[in-house]
Amino acid sequence: MEVVIVPDAQAGGELIAEALAALLRRRPDALLGVATGSTPLPVYRALAARVRAGTADVSHARIAQLDEYVGLPADHPESYRSVLAREVLEPLGIGMDAFLGPDGTAADVPGACAAYDRALAAAGGVDLQLLGIGTDGHIGFNEPCSSLASRTRIKTLTEQTRIDNARFFDGDVTQVPHHVITQGIGTILEARHLVLLATGEGKADAVAATVEGPVAAVCPASALQLHPHATVVVDEAAASKLKLADYFRHTWADKPEWQGI
Ligand code: GLP
Repeated sequence: MEVVIVPDAQAGGELIAEALAALLRRRPDALLGVATGSTPLPVYRALAARVRAGTADVSHARIAQLDEYVGLPADHPESYRSVLAREVLEPLGIGMDAFLGPDGTAADVPGACAAYDRALAAAGGVDLQLLGIGTDGHIGFNEPCSSLASRTRIKTLTEQTRIDNARFFDGDVTQVPHHVITQGIGTILEARHLVLLATGEGKADAVAATVEGPVAAVCPASALQLHPHATVVVDEAAASKLKLADYFRHTWADKPEWQGI
């Protein structure tokens, strides 16, 4: 995998937005897999700025959701569908007709999960999947010890993840659902390019385990080591526990600019 150490979250957002803009020039109707959480917000802001400046064209882009809470009504402000509508679709001017996501309110949850995997495949697969990372190494909502071959399915959140996410629910952990639907690790690995963004010291241990640890279900993000085109973009704080940080810095500094990520 390629590791790019950037000065700060803003620089990471710019780098990934540029990769998205370049992808859309090659493939105007690319299916972009997007993530929630605070970390990817600079990416969405940087891409929206490019759209306003006329240097990125998202008019044919399609958007796919990574994960969703089970049981929150779709119009709940913290359902991931609502969050993505607010933070990605509206700023980019993309309509819901170009959006794919699992139904977190379905009575038949396994059926909804299987239907979402089929919908992703029928759409031609995800071209670029943007990922954040949990403090425990989760991607999407694949908590530690998720099968590395897993498909989209229901998962139970760890208490730590519910505590981490309580900030979106008035700081009240009791409001955070226990169950979620998430693309499986096997599903995520089918995207043609994986781009994981991690910022801040709180992610340093998870990043070190992802990049330099063994491939192990206890750190779900370590599955990125199995992907032929995975890029990990980290700020200095998130990179602070990488033993090979200097190597990653100089390979990036020497990389021809036209290659991108
Ligand atoms: C949630 C999401 C993940 C995200 C993680 C980290 O658990 N399901 O996709 O990566 O939060 O969020 P943040 O970027 O806010 O730290």
